[in-house]
Amino acid sequence: MPAPRTVLLTGAAGGLGTLMRGLLPDYGYELRLLDLRPVEGEPDAIVADLADREAVREAVRGVDAVIHLAGISLESSFEKILAANIEGTYHLYEAAREEGVGRIVFASSNHAVGYTPYPRGDEPLIPVGTPRRPDTFYGLSKCFGEDLAQLYWDKHGLETVSVRIGSCFPEPTSVRMLSVWMSPADGARLFHAALTAEGVGHTVVHGSSDNTRLWWDLTSARALGYEPQDDSEPFAAKLVAEQGELDPADPAQACLGGHFVTDPPIWPY
Ligand SMILES: NC(=O)c1ccc[n+]([C@@H]2O[C@H](COP(=O)([O-])OP(=O)(O)OC[C@H]3O[C@@H](n4cnc5c(N)ncnc54)[C@H](O)[C@@H]3O)[C@@H](O)[C@H]2O)c1
Repeated sequence: MPAPRTVLLTGAAGGLGTLMRGLLPDYGYELRLLDLRPVEGEPDAIVADLADREAVREAVRGVDAVIHLAGISLESSFEKILAANIEGTYHLYEAAREEGVGRIVFASSNHAVGYTPYPRGDEPLIPVGTPRRPDTFYGLSKCFGEDLAQLYWDKHGLETVSVRIGSCFPEPTSVRMLSVWMSPADGARLFHAALTAEGVGHTVVHGSSDNTRLWWDLTSARALGYEPQDDSEPFAAKLVAEQGELDPADPAQACLGGHFVTDPPIWPY
C-alpha cells in the first residue's frame, strides 16, 4: 500500500481529535475533518452524524485512509451506544469499502478488556490476545468495532489497526492513568505507524507510552514501527501523594478498566 497522505479524521472536534489535529500534519498528512459538532477554527470541517450514510460516504470519497475517533467515548445508554458506536462504525466501514479506502485506524479502548485484572507483582504484562472482557456497553461497542474490522479484512481486504487506547491526555490525572497513559506525542507516533506499516491485515495493538508502570504488552504496536518516547513516571510522585497507590482489594481499582467496572449502569438499557 502506498503511504497515505489524505486522511479522514472522524471525531475531529473531540479531545483526542483536537490533539491529533495539532500533531499529525507534522507527519505530512492532509487531514479532512468530520464531527457531529463544528470544529473550532476549521470552517471546512464536515459537520455530519455517522447515522447519515450518504454524508459518511461522501466524507471518505478520495481519502487514502481514515482515523476513526468519532463516537460516544464514555458509558451511555445502550440505544445511544448502538447508534453512534455500533451502527455509526458500520456505516463508516461500508462507506470505506464502497469507496475503496484501503485502511482504517480504529480507536478501540482498554474498556474492551476492562474486567481483566492488571498484573500483580511480577506477573506478565497483559497480552494483546487476552480474552475480551468489556466493562460497559461502551467497551462492548469497541469489541464490536474490532470484530467488524476483522470481518472487513477477511471478507473485503480492508485493513485496520485497532488501537486499544489507554488514556491519551496531555498529562495523567490519576494513579491508574500512570499505567495506561499515552502522551499525545506518542499517540501521533502510534497513529502514524498504524497508517504506514505494511501488511497489517487486522492488527490489534495497545495504545500507551513506555510507562514504567505499564500493565499491557506493546509488542504488536512496536511491530508496526511504533517507538514510544514518553513515560508517565515523572508524574507519579505527585499523583501517589494525592491519591495513594491503587488498592487491588477495591473492585473499582482492581482491573484494567478502573471504576468503569463498578460504575452503576446508565438506564434505560
Ligand atoms: N481519549 C482517550 O484517552 C481515549 C481512550 C480510549 C478510547 N478512546 C476513543 O477515542 C475516540 C476519541 O476519544 P475522545 O476522548 O476524543 O472522545 P470525545 O468524546 O472528546 O470525542 C468524540 C467526538 O466524536 C463526536 N461524535 C460522537 N458521536 C458522533 C456521531 N454520531 N457522528 C459524528 N461524530 C460523533 C463527538 O462530537 C466528539 O467530538 C473515541 O472513540 C474514544 O472511545 C479515547
